[in-house]
Amino acid sequence: MTTATQPATKPALPNAETVLAVQHYTDGLFSFRTTRPAGFRFRSGEFAMLGLPKEDGKPLLRAYSIASPSWDDTLEFYSIKVPNGPLTSRLAKIVPGDEIILKPRPTGTLVADALVAGGTLWLISTGTGIAPFASVIRDPEIYEAFEHVVLTHTCRTRAELQYGLDLVDGVRSHELLGEIEAGKLTHITSVTREPSEGLAGRITQLIETGTLFSHAQMPAWSPEKDRVMICGSSAMIADTRALCEAAGLVEGSNAKPGHFVVEKAFVG
Ligand code: A2P
Repeated sequence: MTTATQPATKPALPNAETVLAVQHYTDGLFSFRTTRPAGFRFRSGEFAMLGLPKEDGKPLLRAYSIASPSWDDTLEFYSIKVPNGPLTSRLAKIVPGDEIILKPRPTGTLVADALVAGGTLWLISTGTGIAPFASVIRDPEIYEAFEHVVLTHTCRTRAELQYGLDLVDGVRSHELLGEIEAGKLTHITSVTREPSEGLAGRITQLIETGTLFSHAQMPAWSPEKDRVMICGSSAMIADTRALCEAAGLVEGSNAKPGHFVVEKAFVG
């Protein structure tokens, strides 16, 4: 008697998207682009759960801010690589054609809907905390809602600033976005662990000493004219939030827009 043997097919990965491109910036930082599922909607600044299957096939996911703008056909993410980190050490090895898992229904707190419109929008980021703002500064509606947009990015080293430098160059040289941005976007960088020709020091120090405001040629924060979004490590978020509160800014939410919002999902 003969038994028919089934071909060994791998079970299809649920919520799989295909990697289209990967760019490595430093030993610890990379960005990647994936296909975008039909019907995958998000607001600039939101995050989604993204990851890879574990040995047992179950998904290993973490929150990733969507770095691409909502009008883009593909999705972009910016990530750290943690040596021996269960997810990022594996994710850092992806190449075009590989599949990742992307859960539908993005969410998040870093959205313009949670801020009172008008005035200057300050996007305060450290490390990979720039990712949600990569989406925000490529959103044409942001330039309609706010008079100025100031993106600050602080990293340990100059090499870690490269993603942000390329991003801002891309906005300014983009045929349509460049016209909409029209000089409204200011990019301020600083580094904390090596000499720099530009600003040096933590963003919290630059705020406290007033260096940030003199550099941007703008007055210090006030609830009348400033809106702030904060994304970085938990310690950075806590310290920057305290400075917002000291300036009289009130935290906003979708239900009750205010003067500042902080990332609630960001880790590392
Ligand atoms: P520093 O080099 O002084 O620690 P990390 O990779 O640890 O998240 O750090 C990214 C950047 O954020 C670094 O420049 C770091 O400065 C800065 N940073 C770390 N903690 C804070 C904090 N509590 N407030 C402001 N900046 C911070």
